[in-house]
Amino acid sequence: MAEKIALCEAGAVAPGQMVRFEPAGADPVLLINDAGSFRLIDDDCTHAIASLAEGRLEGHIIFCPLHGGSFDIRTGKAKSLPCKQALGTYPVSVENGIVYLG
Ligand code: FES
Repeated sequence: MAEKIALCEAGAVAPGQMVRFEPAGADPVLLINDAGSFRLIDDDCTHAIASLAEGRLEGHIIFCPLHGGSFDIRTGKAKSLPCKQALGTYPVSVENGIVYLG
């Protein structure tokens, strides 16, 4: 994911909301508006097969909908079992009201 990929308009994801994107040629990512700052992490849980977009966000912690494991959205690190492996985190930028991966 070296090049910039436009994801959406910045206003489309309100604080506390998260949206899954499937960029061409890349794994699904989850865009999260973290109190006005955008974060971008892998959407697929590292434990089994589940989309974190269907999970629950509490502060900086996202809980998987399938078995309840959790991750820190700032670092991708697993925070509770059964999750052990960290999620990928990706650079995100906003230019002229558009959110980009990269
Ligand atoms: Fe996410 Fe099991 S698939 S905790």
